[in-house]
Amino acid sequence: GAPVEVDISTLQPGEMRTVEWRGKPVWILKRTPEMLASLPKLDNEVADPGSERNPDEFTPDYCINKHRSRKPEILVAVGICTHLGCSPSTKFAPGPQPSLPDDWAGGFLCPCHGSTFDIAGRVYKNKPAPDNLVVPRHMYLSDTKILIG
Ligand code: FES
Repeated sequence: GAPVEVDISTLQPGEMRTVEWRGKPVWILKRTPEMLASLPKLDNEVADPGSERNPDEFTPDYCINKHRSRKPEILVAVGICTHLGCSPSTKFAPGPQPSLPDDWAGGFLCPCHGSTFDIAGRVYKNKPAPDNLVVPRHMYLSDTKILIG
């Protein structure tokens, strides 16, 4: 598939956009400072906090860092659950919701079998999904233009 160019100049903090790449949904989320601050606190609750598993498949080397991204605030991730391929929903709002941890800091919930992912696409422990969401290879063409693929 051809690489996809995305202009993120109008993306607001807390806003997510979905683009299609190779027939898959790719999420581009501009995280707020609060969202980023939540990540280190979840290291003990997620299955692969350092994104060390199969980097060729799940996390390009330049995104093996605490925010799983090239720019701290911008998450680029394939919106397909690593369990059986459903598309997780965004669940950014904290507070009591069925099947979310009590201290939910925002992230993604797969409707099929309840896997939860944090705001960096890291899967929580003891969930059916075995791995973090895939971060596709991508690069910045400018401050506000991303090339995916
Ligand atoms: Fe997502 Fe099973 S497909 S939890």
